[in-house]
Amino acid sequence: MVSASPTAPVLAHGVAPLRAGQGISFFLRRLHSLTGIIPVGAFLFEHILISNATAISGPAAYARQVSFLANLPLVFFLELFGIWLPIAYHGLYGFYIWYRGDANTVAYPWTGNWMYTLQRWTGGIAFFYIVWHTWSMRFTGVDLHDHPMASFGKVAAEVSHPLLFAFYVVGLIAASWHFAYGIWLFCAKWGIVSGSIAQRRLLGLCLAFFLIMSAVGIASLYTFRTRFQDASGAGSTVVQMHATSDERRAQ
Ligand code: HEM
Repeated sequence: MVSASPTAPVLAHGVAPLRAGQGISFFLRRLHSLTGIIPVGAFLFEHILISNATAISGPAAYARQVSFLANLPLVFFLELFGIWLPIAYHGLYGFYIWYRGDANTVAYPWTGNWMYTLQRWTGGIAFFYIVWHTWSMRFTGVDLHDHPMASFGKVAAEVSHPLLFAFYVVGLIAASWHFAYGIWLFCAKWGIVSGSIAQRRLLGLCLAFFLIMSAVGIASLYTFRTRFQDASGAGSTVVQMHATSDERRAQ
């Protein structure tokens, strides 16, 4: 049995909270916590609030942003070490923490218990969403690093399907909640914000951050859907154009 603190609920089973001098599991737990902020959270911030938000300014602005990212030096290694491996570690170790933990409503009184459960479920939903999104945008169809002009059309074609659009909205909201509440957890666990009044204020800020992330993300998704329809297939024309040039190259 591990004793409770205002920020760490009582744990009867499961992975112990962060404590120094507990060998490799302490280190792995700290690494899990840290990777949630840097680089995974930082990437999510950039991806939703900067890169995808440029779609609101239209296909040309979005293509410029994709082109800028695609032309960063050593981009493959930046993706591998800055995004894919950290997300894989944080996600898979997150499932391990979830599997070993206990989300019992009696053992976790107050809203902290529901927040605890929500943190796990939003992480799980985000995981499957991220796997699908990375596979469909990065590893199938038109290669957007080679053809950034096709980027708006590719995303628009994907979210024009009502079920996929719903999946994108759910994935976006889950990831935004998970990250926003994760910032609060991180600050509480690392002792950055202690004291109940300060923690309550931080919770309000994190909630506001969640609403901003969700609103900007939904506005971008909405733009992909409406501009695609307004242009009566202009986006799909771009995708087709590049698919055709890919086919030509393959011949
Ligand atoms: C969208 C990408 C993700 C971001 C930005 C993110 C970010 C964060 C942050 C900042 C925290 C708080 C760190 C802490 O607890 O000290 C956290 C906690 C957590 N994350 Fe994630 N995460 C992501 C994806 C995932 C995935 C895919 C899972 C898999 C289930 C997951 C599972 C967890 C769990 C279980 C915790 C709570 C750990 C605890 O209570 O000690 N996360 N995440």
